[in-house]
Amino acid sequence: MIWDTHAHLDDHRFKGDLEEILKNMKEAQISRVINIGYDLPSSRRSVDLAHKYEEIYAAIGFHPHNAKDATEEALKKLKNLAKEDKVIAWGEIGLDYYRDLSPRKVQREVFIRQIELADEVGLPVVVHDRDAHGDLLDIVKTHTPKNGGVFHCYSGSWEMAKELLNLGFYLSFAGPLTFKNARHSVEVARNIPLDRFVLETDSPYLTPEPYRGKRNEPAYVRYIAQKFADIRGMSLEEVAEQSFANGNKLFRLSIN
Ligand code: NI
Repeated sequence: MIWDTHAHLDDHRFKGDLEEILKNMKEAQISRVINIGYDLPSSRRSVDLAHKYEEIYAAIGFHPHNAKDATEEALKKLKNLAKEDKVIAWGEIGLDYYRDLSPRKVQREVFIRQIELADEVGLPVVVHDRDAHGDLLDIVKTHTPKNGGVFHCYSGSWEMAKELLNLGFYLSFAGPLTFKNARHSVEVARNIPLDRFVLETDSPYLTPEPYRGKRNEPAYVRYIAQKFADIRGMSLEEVAEQSFANGNKLFRLSIN
């Protein structure tokens, strides 16, 4: 059994065949998936999906791209949503200095505000970091989430990874780990303590080899697990078991 700890199954690309996608997932022994919110409507859709399908859990939050829309009013609505059944994380939140779709100052303020809200409702956070390693590290050092969290599709160096691990974070590996030119993530996968990693697809994005370029789906998380197993000299079963246990601990769910 494996977790896919990060997916966007409410994406329009899954319209029409979501049931099929969930069936593929089950057949591939993927037993749990978290649907991740990026604004208020997508967070609502996350909660709806989690209520409808047993294997789906929900995260709610404002992605840094949408930080400019995160008014106090909208954040209050998110906080209410956080109390719904099967909401297990606040995210994805963070900084994206690659696309800069919201002003950087607003991204930082909204990120900090959401860490505070996650602390208030007792949820771990899911962090998105693109080309913003320095500022992100500064913020999580001074505003360390009380209930921990995960850096999703971790793309930083092993040096930064060590600092994040010291702060209590988990690190998540996605499709790019399987790419030929992967360097940082392979080094991190080689060195990370085995009780601190999780796996994800970020479906429909970041499709792993051998399907790179096609639409991603949760069943493909096993290709990422296999790559991690190869790097560590472990069996696929060992990686699955360990990543499943780590996901349960990070998101505070029981074993089954
Ligand atoms: Ni995502």
